[in-house]
Amino acid sequence: MKAIVYTEYGPPDVLQYKEVEKPTPAADEVLVRVRAASLNTGDRYLMLGKPVLLRMEAGLRQPKKPILGIDIAGDIEAVGSAVTQFKPGDAVYGDITRTLGGFAEFVAAPIDALAIKPDSIAYEDAATIPTAGVTALQGLRDAGRIQAGQRVLIAGASGGVGTFAVQIAKAYGAEVTGVCSTRHLDLVRSIGADHVIDYTQEDFTRSGQQYDLILGVNGSRSLADYKRALSPGGIYVVAGGSMRQIFAGMLLGPLMSTGGKKMLNMGAVKPNQQDLLVMNDLLTSGKVKPVIVKRYPLSETADAMRYLDAGHAQGKVIITVNHNGH
Ligand SMILES: NC(=O)c1ccc[n+]([C@@H]2O[C@H](COP(=O)([O-])OP(=O)(O)OC[C@H]3O[C@@H](n4cnc5c(N)ncnc54)[C@H](OP(=O)(O)O)[C@@H]3O)[C@@H](O)[C@H]2O)c1
Repeated sequence: MKAIVYTEYGPPDVLQYKEVEKPTPAADEVLVRVRAASLNTGDRYLMLGKPVLLRMEAGLRQPKKPILGIDIAGDIEAVGSAVTQFKPGDAVYGDITRTLGGFAEFVAAPIDALAIKPDSIAYEDAATIPTAGVTALQGLRDAGRIQAGQRVLIAGASGGVGTFAVQIAKAYGAEVTGVCSTRHLDLVRSIGADHVIDYTQEDFTRSGQQYDLILGVNGSRSLADYKRALSPGGIYVVAGGSMRQIFAGMLLGPLMSTGGKKMLNMGAVKPNQQDLLVMNDLLTSGKVKPVIVKRYPLSETADAMRYLDAGHAQGKVIITVNHNGH
């Protein structure tokens, strides 16, 4: 089968389109014929081998797992000997962070990472959901304890996680403000934000407006800035952003959680079948619609990664797997 293989850490040039052996599923795995995969910053970090700490698990000198690819959607081709939950022919999708290997024609995937894909959700749309959609859901619902009627601000509203966060917050009945750059204002409005703020023109942390919940997806503000923009009793959740912001949220967040305001880091998304089902409902009810900015064939995954690497993707980047050798 064809796959995107990398044997050393580095820029997207390390990703090679190659013929490799088709995997065999273990007892508790299924073999998935991949139809679509989506790119995530997690794939990018694993490709770069940065931050260096991740090499403790991913491989010190070179990657232990030669095929990247966290988010997949496809059809089950075969099931492991212990699998009863799925059968060949089932359409599934999920976040296979633990095993990786989604940038390939076939992948052996652990069953607890997968959910049935409803017919009404296209493979490409399904592939956008597992990491970005579930991160937005868990950041707002679990860490942020979102409530109907709250004023919610999404900092970094135009990327993969942000476009889901705006729509999920609306689905929960919040009044949503999206922060993005000028060229993304229309997009963020079009997915339902009640208000948009252009971060190149306006500093939302000094406008005097306060928010009950701020989800920090992308941006460059300090914890003190976010805290100033929180209303009394408000919560600021770090979902992503620069490494500096992420570590600040982890280390300083508890110290800065004073005056009834909470500053916290949601940590890594926790992939689970239940939240994929929650996302199924949000999509099939029409409350959430994935935003796909670009599609690349499997053979051009390195180009897709170059686009993501630039840091200004609008929504999700998809790899389509056509099974025709491209
Ligand atoms: N906690 C977790 O488990 C988890 C899971 C997934 C992702 N993440 C993290 O979440 C972050 C976002 O991921 P993603 O997949 O959404 O990335 P992405 O799609 O690559 O994000 C790109 C978007 O970020 C926007 N952006 C860049 N700088 C910005 C700034 N200063 N202010 C506001 N928006 C800005 C860009 O818009 P402009 O071009 O308009 O600036 C672009 O639309 C990353 O740091 C990622 O590592 C965390």
